[in-house]
Amino acid sequence: MLRLSLSARLTTTFIVITVVCFGAVGYLQFKAVSKRIYEQDETNLVLSARHLRRLVAELDSTRDLVLHQDRLVATILGDAANAMRITDRNSHVLIDHNPSGYLIASLRPVPEDQRITLADIRSWNDAGGKEIRGVATTASLGNGTSVTITVARSLADRAALLSRYRRDTAVSLLAGMLVAVMLSYLLVYRALRPLRVMAENASAITAQRLSTRMPSGDAPAELHALAIALNDMLARLEEGFARVWQFTVDLAHDLRTPIGNLRGANEVALARSRSVAEYEALLGSNIEECDRVSRMIESVLFLARAESPQFALQRAVIDIEAELQRIADYFEGIASEAGVSIHIDARATVYADRDLFRRAVSNLLSNALRYTAPGEAINILAKKIDHGVYVTVENPGPGIDPEHLDKLFDRFYRIDRSRSDSAKSTGLGLSIVKSIMELHGGDVIVESHSNATTRFTLLFPRVTIPE
Ligand SMILES: Nc1ncnc2c1ncn2[C@@H]1O[C@H](COP(=O)(O)OP(=O)(O)OP(=O)(O)O)[C@@H](O)[C@H]1O
Ligand SMILES: [Mg+2]
Repeated sequence: MLRLSLSARLTTTFIVITVVCFGAVGYLQFKAVSKRIYEQDETNLVLSARHLRRLVAELDSTRDLVLHQDRLVATILGDAANAMRITDRNSHVLIDHNPSGYLIASLRPVPEDQRITLADIRSWNDAGGKEIRGVATTASLGNGTSVTITVARSLADRAALLSRYRRDTAVSLLAGMLVAVMLSYLLVYRALRPLRVMAENASAITAQRLSTRMPSGDAPAELHALAIALNDMLARLEEGFARVWQFTVDLAHDLRTPIGNLRGANEVALARSRSVAEYEALLGSNIEECDRVSRMIESVLFLARAESPQFALQRAVIDIEAELQRIADYFEGIASEAGVSIHIDARATVYADRDLFRRAVSNLLSNALRYTAPGEAINILAKKIDHGVYVTVENPGPGIDPEHLDKLFDRFYRIDRSRSDSAKSTGLGLSIVKSIMELHGGDVIVESHSNATTRFTLLFPRVTIPE
């Protein structure tokens, strides 16, 4: 399919508009000028005929008439295309002034007592096809003799003039159109420059070069909005790519540690022969490292699935208290080993995905258990509020410095890596919580500072339960 450029389309539109407008203006102007010229000639013919009729009436006889021939002819002199003929009743020519020698037709004369007007003008053609216009009238001499006066004008010179005028107008119209077309093409081409720059910039964008931006400074309003929208999109893509890149780097780094541990421990064990108990201990620690790797892989897979557009929540009405109790029971062993008690105060229900709800609370509770000193208690509260339900998990402990709070939900973020690089920690727990809350259209917030209670709050927005 022929794909015309925008410049070509706009220029074609301009050409059509200029041709139509210039053509119409030229045609109307030509019509007006020719009408004015012919009107002027016809008025002159009428005035000459009236004048001649008056002059003839002042003369006594045909003899007198011939004697005063020059005076009579003088009325139409000054225009070589004019002609005059005076004939008597028997059509004998008394005076004939016709320098161009064209045919003067015998016209029905306007009676003497009738006013000569433009309507009395008649038109005919001579042998060469040239148009001639004229008017005839009768006039009476002093002795009562009636004569016929005919004045005429050949339009040959006018036709030549108008045809020259038409040719000149056509040439200047053509030149005007050409200039208009060229100028409009140049202007359109210039106006579309920002679009071409955008296309150039866009074609240079690759996954590795997402920092390119569209110029928006001098772009016209429509393109300015487009440039800003594209730049916003590029910024989002750049951020997304950076996140994926960072995630890959962190994942590789975090997988290296347990595998390095595994290999190191095995090498040391193989350096000399060991007792069965030592081998058993080694295998036990190997299994722990393998568990960590498989938990990390499972967490990464969960995050990837949660981000996929196909992920669908299996919502159900959850009795929060019963659910929290179940979770607390699951953690009972670890809690009693750590000497920590878990208090639950939750009289509310939430319409959420049960597995994900369990997973989010479990992640918060396992963190809380890790940071709560023996003898202390963890509180889990849930309450219904106007715009939804919140669930908080709070624990006394070392607290979190404010500088870490906004990065806490980033993947692989751990405050004290050396401490939490143990087999228990992957740094993915809170990012999973965040992603679960985003899937529910809610949010997770943290409140803490050094040596104070740390409180994580899950906000489930109000959802209408389908019938
Ligand atoms: N209750 C808490 N008190 C103090 N620090 C906390 C608490 N909960 C989380 N943190 C800090 O936030 C970091 C990130 O927590 P997150 O749950 O994402 O990872 P993790 O617990 O280290 O690893 P994982 O949960 O994957 O086993 C933790 O390493 C810890 O430093
Ligand atoms: Mg955790």
